[in-house]
Amino acid sequence: MAHIMGFGGYAPERIVTNDEWAQRVDTSDEWITQRTGIKRRRFAADDESTLTLAAAAARGAIGDAGLTPADIDEIVIATDTPEVRTPDTAALLQHELGCRNVPTYDLGGSGCAGFIQAMDVANSRIAVQPKNILVIGVEVITRMISLTDRATAVLFGDAAGAVIMGSQPSKAEVLGIVSGTDGSHAEILTLTAGGTRRPFNASSLASGDHNRLVMDGKKVFTEAVRRMSEASAEVLRRVGRTVGEVSLVIPHQANLRIIEAVRKKMGLESGRVFVNVHEYGNTGSATVPFAMWQAVLTNRIEKGDLVVLTAFGAGFHWAAAALQF
Ligand code: ACO
Repeated sequence: MAHIMGFGGYAPERIVTNDEWAQRVDTSDEWITQRTGIKRRRFAADDESTLTLAAAAARGAIGDAGLTPADIDEIVIATDTPEVRTPDTAALLQHELGCRNVPTYDLGGSGCAGFIQAMDVANSRIAVQPKNILVIGVEVITRMISLTDRATAVLFGDAAGAVIMGSQPSKAEVLGIVSGTDGSHAEILTLTAGGTRRPFNASSLASGDHNRLVMDGKKVFTEAVRRMSEASAEVLRRVGRTVGEVSLVIPHQANLRIIEAVRKKMGLESGRVFVNVHEYGNTGSATVPFAMWQAVLTNRIEKGDLVVLTAFGAGFHWAAAALQF
């Protein structure tokens, strides 16, 4: 199994509060706080983009691993908000960091589960051939969805998180990863315009479809709770460990009520679940690696801890990983 050698994270400086949202659209701090637990989120500055956020998190992880960009053998980025349509953000990042001409690829469209899915891919690649893989979750969602649709806009923020995975024993061992997909729910959470089914054109721009995130919030909520708690139980079962042994669960940070429901379903007390959704909102594929970086940085995770990561997103995709620090 692979090991995690370094952690990195980055969030833009600009803080947008619920009160600021209430000045932009018909909402209130009370509504957002009660429904989601979110108080603040970060917006990328005009001179920032998916690439700059990813590069900041990547440099942190590479440094934390005691490596240089020349030591990276492969790059995989999970993002639904790429720097450009073609090529992938990972290719641009390879050049930006000054890496060798190593293979790079994006996992796009996996929504918030993308980072753990990318870890799963990296884990298998390392099992075939020892190498150092830079794995990133990054989103600049605030630039890709409508900022006038109150039902979705207030939920999201921008951030990036990164890890270096390798074959040598290091900071955390990946004990196991499970992931799954149910494509029958694709229409419940989707952004259809801009693909081949509905290319960008004057009519999609005029109707506002080009950045309309279609979301059935209640169905997403129910499935997110079910899939994240089941995936966490499944990964623990596969690696022969129990919930009682888990020091910390780092769930996808979409909504405090979802996190609380997952915690209760898993039978965990609140101190064993990492929460930062109130400060950063939902940063898509970045929530889990960014939260893990913060948990390591603030000593919420210590040597010997068993940590479970779990996420759920558009697709529907879901995944969970068990890590032994
Ligand atoms: N401010 C004020 N009112 C709002 C807002 C807002 N920002 N957004 C929607 N409303 C209104 C709606 O118009 C609707 O009004 P109506 O009843 O007059 O039609 C009402 O609030 C909706 O209320 P509820 O249906 O009771 O809202 P609910 O409790 O389901 O909360 C929410 C909605 C927060 C979206 C919730 O369903 C949720 O969090 N679901 C999960 C969705 C999610 O996390 N998506 C992120 C992407 S996927 C992922 O990361 C897992």
